[in-house]
Amino acid sequence: TGRPGFCVAIDGPGAAGKGTIARAIAGRFGFHHLDTGLLYRAVALKGGDPGSAARGLSAADLARTDLRSAEAGQAASRIAAIPEVRAALLDFQRRFATQPPGAVLDGRDIGTVICPEAELKLYVTAADTTRAERRAAELGADVAEVLSQLRERDARDAERATAPLRPAEDAVILDTTTLTIEQAVTTAVVLVEERWLRG
Ligand code: DC
Repeated sequence: TGRPGFCVAIDGPGAAGKGTIARAIAGRFGFHHLDTGLLYRAVALKGGDPGSAARGLSAADLARTDLRSAEAGQAASRIAAIPEVRAALLDFQRRFATQPPGAVLDGRDIGTVICPEAELKLYVTAADTTRAERRAAELGADVAEVLSQLRERDARDAERATAPLRPAEDAVILDTTTLTIEQAVTTAVVLVEERWLRG
C-alpha cells in the first residue's frame, strides 16, 4: 500500500491549525514533519544580511528556544518576502519532502512552490477573530493585540510578490472556524488515508 515519498503539503495563515494537523498526520502515518516557519524564524533571529543568514543556516540556529516568540514571527514574515532568502531555503525543503515513507511540510508556499506535486495539499484556514482567540489563549495574551498582529502578518504574507500565501489550485480547503481540533485532525487523516491507499 502506498508508495515511497508520499508528500502532504499544508498551507494557511497563522493559528489556523496547520501545525496541530501536520503533527497529527506525521504521528499517525510515521511521516517526517517539517514546520517550515521555523526556517524563516531562524533566519530572522540570526540577524545580519538575511540572504547570507539563510545560506548559512545551521542545526544550532534551528535549535534556538526563542524561535516561537511573537517577535520572531513578525520578523520572519518580513525577511520571508526577500526572494534570495526563499531561494536559499528551497533545496533543503524539497529534499526533506522526498523522504520515505512520507513527509508533511507546513507553511505558506508548500503546495504552490515547494511541493507542487504533493499527493495531498491542504489549505487550513479559519476566521481571523477565531485564530486570534486561539493564539491569545495559547500565549495568555490580549485578543485585540494578537488580532492586529495576525492581520498585519496575513496581509504581508499574502501580498508579497514572491511565493505569496494562497491555496494551490488543487488544494482541499479546510476551514477550522467551527471545528474542534479533533474534527479537523480526523478530516485531514481521512484525506491522507484515501490518497495513500489509492496510490
Ligand atoms: O508559520 P509561522 O508563523 O512560523 O511563520 C512565520 C513567518 O514565516 C510567516 O509569517 C511567513 C514566513 N513563512 C513563509 O513565508 N513561508 C513558509 N513556508 C513558512 C513561513
